[in-house]
Amino acid sequence: MVVLLVGLIVSWYVAGLGALIALAFGFLWVRDLTTGTSLAHAPEVEPERAAGAAQVPVPAPVELVELPSERYPRSKFLEISTLGLGGVIGGLVTAPALGFMVAPAFLKQGQKDHDIGPISDFPQGKYVIATWMSDPSQGEVSRRTAFVRYNGQLRNLPSFTIISNHCAHLGCPVQPNGPLDNKNTRQLADVTLIPTVSIAGFGCPCHGGQYDTEGNRTAGPPVRALDRYSFSIRNGHVFVGKPFSVSHVDGTGANAEIHKWTLSFPGEHVNGLESWLYPIQPPH
Ligand code: FES
Repeated sequence: MVVLLVGLIVSWYVAGLGALIALAFGFLWVRDLTTGTSLAHAPEVEPERAAGAAQVPVPAPVELVELPSERYPRSKFLEISTLGLGGVIGGLVTAPALGFMVAPAFLKQGQKDHDIGPISDFPQGKYVIATWMSDPSQGEVSRRTAFVRYNGQLRNLPSFTIISNHCAHLGCPVQPNGPLDNKNTRQLADVTLIPTVSIAGFGCPCHGGQYDTEGNRTAGPPVRALDRYSFSIRNGHVFVGKPFSVSHVDGTGANAEIHKWTLSFPGEHVNGLESWLYPIQPPH
């Protein structure tokens, strides 16, 4: 059970191994309880008499007879039924608690693509802070923030850099290192767009993590670059898609080479030996 429970946290492979071990030992345990033979009580042989008892007739040796065993003695039945009942009650109590604890991490996760406005709202080479509600039915708690930069055309297609504001250390909201052009803030339905004047990267107010304009970590405790969002262009509008993690970025703008990984939680390494500590990423 210990291997199984540890596996639920660390890796599905370990959990599978734990389940197999638990099943194997459970089977052996039940088999031990339900099998076995009992010998009939043999009549006791009288102990040898003291010296001088030679004249007393010695009873003929008694032959031990093995009687047919009772397959399910009452004591065994009571033992198994008590344990079985305890197991059923334990399962009924544990299964819902375990389900409520683990299942939400795998249900209704992710977010739909979101329209954050026409391409013309994003001046080339400048970051715009975009906030939107990923699920308007949930209200403001679902609000997301990203730094969006239009990089111009790449092979006749618009190129965008869309960086998440979640610090890669512990998830604090990262800020642009530079002034904002608040006067030109634009509001489109649930989307707010705040242009920046000119920024020299991003900084985290919590523990001083610093990132360059491509989101690469340059100083402080973060373990990787800032996460990014995929995007698509539909009818001249920019749609923000699914987020993903980034170990680092080579180059800049439209020609940047992004080293992309499955979305990971803040503080987790996505490459190198340390990433082996985080073999499974629940959808989030
Ligand atoms: S949360 Fe950003 S540096 Fe710690």
